[in-house]
Amino acid sequence: MPAVTRADIERAVRVLRAGGLVAFPTETVYGLGAAARDPAALARLYAVKGRPVDHPVIVHLAGADRLGDWAATVPPAAAALAERFWPGPLTLVLDRAASVPDAVTGGRATVGLRVPDQPVALALLAAFGGGIAAPSANRFGQVSPTTAAHVRAGLGPDVDLLLDGGPCRIGVESTIVDLSDPTVPRLLRAGGVPAEALAETLGALPETDRGPARAPGMLAAHYAPRARVVLARDADELAALAGAAAARGERVGAIVPELAAGPPHGAVVLSRPSTSDAYARELYEALHRADELDLDVVLAIAPDPRGIGLAVHDRLLRAAAGRRS
Ligand code: TXA
Ligand code: MG
Repeated sequence: MPAVTRADIERAVRVLRAGGLVAFPTETVYGLGAAARDPAALARLYAVKGRPVDHPVIVHLAGADRLGDWAATVPPAAAALAERFWPGPLTLVLDRAASVPDAVTGGRATVGLRVPDQPVALALLAAFGGGIAAPSANRFGQVSPTTAAHVRAGLGPDVDLLLDGGPCRIGVESTIVDLSDPTVPRLLRAGGVPAEALAETLGALPETDRGPARAPGMLAAHYAPRARVVLARDADELAALAGAAAARGERVGAIVPELAAGPPHGAVVLSRPSTSDAYARELYEALHRADELDLDVVLAIAPDPRGIGLAVHDRLLRAAAGRRS
């Protein structure tokens, strides 16, 4: 990995100020950044992502002291979460300040805000000074990038500048908590901060929302590689599914936690995580590799849906889009 230099950061700031798009690493996944107060830059961002314009984007900030520029009010619960988890993989959805462009919020009354915990991202945010709107740096519906190579493969020349900060430390997106009604904190997306950790600060687990998507973009068929993703309950079931797929002449990949019995002979082992943290870190790389290798099917045993395992579980279910065996 080439180290990101001061000159690279300065160049990235010039690109952002000129309305361009800068892909940059965060601790979760790579983001595709645009100046959050530049509607023309945001229009280009949406076009490159291929994303519906009513989907809001997260605004990244250099520090919690900037919250007041973007949120109309900061309820005590939001201040407490920011204090404990920022910089870090947590996005807070708050009532937006009047000055926040509609292009950022998809016309909603709320805005998503986060301070990432990654040195290149923080250097960029500090040097830029303002907010950087950044969805994950992949095209709509595809698997999020956790390396610069994934960004290059997915977006190519549509990115004006790509800062390579090496592989992402966490590997799944930020946890999103909606505090626009502070009496009912809602978990909109499981992610890098475990729900159990939020409960320590909030006093209770946030509500999970099963109604119509409150976080647009959390559609069922999301995070999906070209290969079919199928979840197996255990190693025996996985072996049976692998055998059936091989008999059909399909090329099979497997994601099998180290605790489960060995993956079946003939399957490409995409990841063999020893912990839920490792599972999160390796998941998207495994799905990207399945496509590079042109596999037909990825068989996976999901981790326990506890801690960060909940986010991994969620992404696997979406990648499988109901194709649970
Ligand atoms: O870890 C992350 O959050 C990464 C890195 C780059 O920071 N970003 C990311 O952005 O995952 P994106 O755009 O791929 O996913 C953001 C999600 C979307 O589902 C969007 O609908 C939701 O956040 N979101 C953003 N603002 C919102 C708001 N005001 N209300 C509800 N949902 C919101
Ligand atoms: Mg995304």
